[in-house]
Amino acid sequence: MRLSYRFRQWWKAVFPRVTRADRAWVAALLPPPAYALFLSMSRAGQRHGLDTARQLAGWELHIRSRLSAAEYTDLLQAALLHDCGKTPFHLTVGQRAARVALEATPASLRRSALRRWPFAARALQAAAAHAALGAEMAARCGLSRRVQLLILRHHQPQTPAEKLLAQADDRC
Ligand SMILES: [Fe+2]
Repeated sequence: MRLSYRFRQWWKAVFPRVTRADRAWVAALLPPPAYALFLSMSRAGQRHGLDTARQLAGWELHIRSRLSAAEYTDLLQAALLHDCGKTPFHLTVGQRAARVALEATPASLRRSALRRWPFAARALQAAAAHAALGAEMAARCGLSRRVQLLILRHHQPQTPAEKLLAQADDRC
């Protein structure tokens, strides 16, 4: 993965910004319980969800020829919330930044990096568990089964919509 991409990802994780206009867009897209779930996410998580959803919205013309209107709405909802399963881990800025660095570290060096940064282990646990946890949280908010599956599989996409979400996630 390119160094400039990693740096941008790190910068947004450390200095996230969510505007009033961003929140208004999200409130229009999500039903109230899901909007409350979005607001419970860390600022960095909100920013990442917004960037992922906006990336998909930028591909709307291309996407709308492949998905129904309902599937497109579900895709945007899932994009906003796809990492909500990280919320219960209460990761610090340092842990989030360390995870980004660790994921860019070759697997062979990761163990020694973890010895140096033991606090980053929790961020790796969150990375492993968040998709399944996020799908459960989406279900509790009453979001559709399709949104739940999009969140569940956003790191192992199967359907065209799931692949679009993974592609947008990778770019943000
Ligand atoms: Fe994720």
